Amino acid sequence: MRTPLVAGNWKMHGRLDMARELAARIAAGAPHGVELALCPPYPYLGVLQQTLTGTPVALGAQNLAEQAEGAFTGEVAGEMLAEFGCRYVLVGHSERRSLYGETDAVVATKFQRAQAAGLVPVLCLGESQAEREAGQTDSVVGRQLDAVLETAGVAAFHQAVIAYEPVWAIGTGLTASPEQAQAVHAFIRQRLARQDAGVAAATRVLYGGSVKADNAASLLAEPDIDGGLIGGASLDADSFLAICQVASL
Ligand code: 13P
Repeated sequence: MRTPLVAGNWKMHGRLDMARELAARIAAGAPHGVELALCPPYPYLGVLQQTLTGTPVALGAQNLAEQAEGAFTGEVAGEMLAEFGCRYVLVGHSERRSLYGETDAVVATKFQRAQAAGLVPVLCLGESQAEREAGQTDSVVGRQLDAVLETAGVAAFHQAVIAYEPVWAIGTGLTASPEQAQAVHAFIRQRLARQDAGVAAATRVLYGGSVKADNAASLLAEPDIDGGLIGGASLDADSFLAICQVASL
């Protein structure tokens, strides 16, 4: 049985006071039966580590460096994130791919770097609007997943999470329908199953893209959707907790 995971990706929003209060409120209201994680901006990790220690809410980061150490101005190593109590790190978020030029190869390296640091990578996959309209959803998502499978191997997914985030649904208010999302989640699981049925059955595949309290139930009811990666709605404690509540049922 896959325990659902609901992770909040705060992106570059809020300020320190908000981060502190938001994390405390989410920790205080966390329901049972679902795992929660929060991915704040880097500078807030230390404070949130203190806020969240001893609570059921795990800490995650939004990105990590491709390298382990060295002269890489502005980058943050996975081991540094682990020192601040991170359990998860997002890898290959579409904003990293599209705005910062992260290729499939870079994402695969980061995935391995995360695991080497003891972190659980949350591998983000998803097609653009144009790719969906051209009927390329499976080939794009398959290519993104294969890049990591070829580099890290299927067994690496024992310690990883996948998030399907269609680019056209991120921050747009357009959500994939439960049927659209389920189809891609099933495709991802089949792709894993070609190499290892046990890994495919155990790996959590989260959905992300305009998930809100009012659409979470229908998405999470799908058999291959194991939780959510939440952007905008994770910046409001009540909204985020309402999604977590749905996931816990
Ligand atoms: P929204 O929930 O704001 O659409 O963001 C989704 C996302 O990108 C989470 O990583």
